[in-house]
Amino acid sequence: MNIQQISETLNGLALPQRLAKIRELAQGRITFSTSFGLEDQLITHHIATQKLAVDIFTLDTGRLFQEVHDLWQATEDKYGISINGFYPDPSAIAKWVKTQGTNGFYQSVEARKACCNIRKVEPLNRALEGASGWISGLRADQSQAREGVPIAEFDESRNLIKFNPLFDKNRDEILAEIKSLKVPINPLHDQGFLSIGCAPCTRAVANGETERAGRWWWEAEAGAQKECGLHVNEQGQLVRNKN
Ligand code: ADX
Ligand code: SF4
Repeated sequence: MNIQQISETLNGLALPQRLAKIRELAQGRITFSTSFGLEDQLITHHIATQKLAVDIFTLDTGRLFQEVHDLWQATEDKYGISINGFYPDPSAIAKWVKTQGTNGFYQSVEARKACCNIRKVEPLNRALEGASGWISGLRADQSQAREGVPIAEFDESRNLIKFNPLFDKNRDEILAEIKSLKVPINPLHDQGFLSIGCAPCTRAVANGETERAGRWWWEAEAGAQKECGLHVNEQGQLVRNKN
């Protein structure tokens, strides 16, 4: 099957069936990246309750909220699963802190992106090594930059298929599912933290602000792209390959 046929097959299915089909279609190791956001918690619920052979990992940047660690533990306990932590290279962090300062991400977009690169992108690349499938919780309506997110795409540079099984869902649909299935979520969501990343780079949003306005909020005026590099290529493009 090519990507187009895979996409057509997955498109007609509900989330649990999509995930089961992804497992059936992709050969080899499939891994799911969770940041413990709403989307990720719903995906974890369906992977765990269907006992799908999909690894789950998180990128522990060293700067996450305590609430994220609490949810990590609670999720493992509730579902009886293990979520693998991937960590930044300590020497790369030490070097960055030495030159930029421990909170150097506030100084420039360049310094911030270098921090994201060390704490997220490099560990992500390690987590994806040898995988043939990568599941993420991206939604197309999260931001303008994400509106082209497809259900499945071939990531040439990593030689794997990336699946975005919630690409066509909105936040309210996900919240309704979470409520009816009693999926554990981060209590910060109820305090206005719609999208949650590292603690120093995330704030609550006010009524009327966009979903990702609280991420790297100090960069907003400069019009910087609100992405850390997990889902974009070196040119800042979100979709690596549409075929
Ligand atoms: S980010 O790129 O801005 O940080 P966002 O928080 O919207 O991403 O999450 C989108 C998807 O990226 C999540 O559903 C998850 O698959 C992945 N992701 C983001 N942060 C992490 C993390 N710390 N660990 C693992 N996966 C992550
Ligand atoms: Fe560093 Fe902030 Fe990026 Fe986290 S979100 S990796 S603290 S710049």
